[in-house]
Parts: sequence; structure tokens; C-alpha cells
Amino acid sequence: ENIAVVFGGRSVEHEVSVITGMQIMENMDKSKYNPIPLYITKEGKFLSGDVLKDFTTFKENDFSKAVEVFFKGYNEDFNLYTVSSKKGGLFGKDSRDVEVFAKVDVVFPALHGTYGEDGCFQGLLELMSVPYVGCGVTPAGVGMDKVIMKKVFQSEDIPMTEYFYFYRDEWKEQEKIIEKAEKIGYSLFVKPANLGSSVGISKAKNKEEFIEAVEVAIRYDRKILVEKAVENPREINIAVMGYENDLVVSACEEPVGWKDLLKYEDKYVAGPKGSKGMKGQKKNLPANISDTVREEIEKYAKLAFRAIDAMGDARIDFLLEGDTVYVNEINTLPGSLAFYLWEESGISFKELITRLIELSKV
Ligand code: DAL
Ligand code: MG
Repeated sequence: ENIAVVFGGRSVEHEVSVITGMQIMENMDKSKYNPIPLYITKEGKFLSGDVLKDFTTFKENDFSKAVEVFFKGYNEDFNLYTVSSKKGGLFGKDSRDVEVFAKVDVVFPALHGTYGEDGCFQGLLELMSVPYVGCGVTPAGVGMDKVIMKKVFQSEDIPMTEYFYFYRDEWKEQEKIIEKAEKIGYSLFVKPANLGSSVGISKAKNKEEFIEAVEVAIRYDRKILVEKAVENPREINIAVMGYENDLVVSACEEPVGWKDLLKYEDKYVAGPKGSKGMKGQKKNLPANISDTVREEIEKYAKLAFRAIDAMGDARIDFLLEGDTVYVNEINTLPGSLAFYLWEESGISFKELITRLIELSKV
């Protein structure tokens, strides 16, 4: 079977997605599946060709150079799809578009964030009637929008820290927003509703910092989430796989050695040399938590997965305040597919990929 692994994309998480895509192709069971790389540049152009299967082409932290190489050196050798909407979409003039996609049995999105994890790409695949791995349009959209996600979680009584949200234009009346914020009390997290990998997120300990944090966040999004910060929290992550009531949970991990906020750099850049993706962050795996806490985390992780009607593999991030458990968010297309969590529970990366591909056909 031909599996189109789609990575890169027009999101701030482009680089992380390249890593996830490479890992999926590398670890796919080649006796069953033939991975077809499909790279989306930051500008939204689709590229394919076997050279894109090679991780060394995308040297870590040097992605822009890799993109340059494609355009200057390899353009002619690639099947260049005219997929960007400007050029007429997937069913555009270039007959190669349709031909290549007709050969694809399953699409495996390895895209994080905007246009890839938020339902946009999934919608395109629905229109094309191609089976694809992971969440459908609605769960992807709900999982991406932190505000809507919280509302859905709230309706299922999933524990979360106190929050409110506002739209960018309401910031004209700053004092009202600040009043709401101070009613919850500092410290607060200020987040763009729709980004991933901690981009645009800051913690505010007072009014000045809050104003600054909002000014940053509104550059990224027109909807802003404000959350009560847990003091000295522990973060615990867990993955859930399956759909509807047929769910399995992974081991729990605890990223360690961070303060206030796990930043983009902590997650991906500052890791030990040679590390890939989320493996860069120091962690305790399995997390050192009591059975009671773990059971509660497992219960709410499944509930969160079900609440948004997720499918495939999602990572749910929790915050711990003593023994009190809060759901922070669900990531419907987690970095590296959170394979390290599954490995810890006895499911190899290869097996994980196989299960996800097979799930896409149900
Ligand atoms: N958004 C990143 C990739 C994650 O949550 O894993
Ligand atoms: Mg996240």
C-alpha cells in the first residue's frame, strides 16, 4: 500500500512537522507499506520525490537551507504538484496531480498546527475521498482551538484551571480585560487560541506583564485565552489511541528541568545533540506519580479524547498541583506521534504506525 506521509506545511510548527514526517517514514513497516513523502513548503507548495525521504536532507535547525536547495537544485526532478489554491487546487491543470494521488491508498498527515492539525487539510482529504490517519475535520478543529476545546471539556466536567477569553478588538478596552484577569488573579498564562508548541504564549505575574503578554499573543491570533497559572506545577503527558469507546492509554511522562513554561526551544532546540523532536526535552518516563493520580489521568485523558470525538493518536497534557489533576490540552497530532510514550507501554513505533494506518480504514 502506498502511504503518503505529508509534512512541513504553512505553520509555525513546520520544522517539528518535518521531524515527525521523517520519523514516520523511517519507522513504517516497509514489508506492508510504501511511504511516499509529500513535503509542503512554508509557502504552501507541495513537493514529492524520494530524496525527501532522507532525514539528512533536512538537517536539524537548518530547514530553510533545505528548502532553498529544493527550489534551486531539485525542482526539475520532483513531481511538483500544483496543489496550492492559487494554481487551481488538487484538481488543477497538471495531470500529474491526480495521477499521483490516485495511487495513494492512505494519507498520513504529519502536520502540526495551522492548516495541518486544525481540520483544513483533513477537509481537503474528505473532499478527495482518501482515507487518512487521525482526527476528522471537527475534532481536529476543536482540538486546535484552545477556547472551544475548553468549552467542550467543561461540558464533560473535565477539570481545568480557571480561564476566560476575548477577541482582539476587545483589547481596545484594556481595562475591562485587565479587570477580568485580576478577578482570577495572577499568575496568568496568555495564549493565542490557535497555535501549538508554546508559540506566542507568556506567563504574566502582574499587570505590566499581562499587558505585554496580550500584545504578544494578539500578533498571532484574534482570539486570546487567559488561564490561571498553577503555582509550581508538574506537567504530565499521556497518549490515547483508538476511537469512540475502543481506547488504549500509554505510559505517563513528566518533562523535567523547566520553569513556568515549556518553551518551543526547550521542546525542540535545546535538546541533547542528535536528539530528535520531543525527545530533546529531559523527562521522567514513566512519570513518578501515585497509582491514584495515574488512574485519574488515564480516566480524564480518555474522556478528553472522547469529548472531542478524536481518532487515531492524541497526546493529552496535564498539570498537577499536588495531587490535583488539571487537563491542560489535547494535541490531536502530537510531535513524533508521542511514540516514546507508546514504546514505554510496549508498543513499538512500527506497531504504532501500523495500528494508526489500519485504524484509518475503519
Ligand atoms: N504541537 C506539538 C507538535 C505537540 O504538541 O507535540
Ligand atoms: Mg501542545
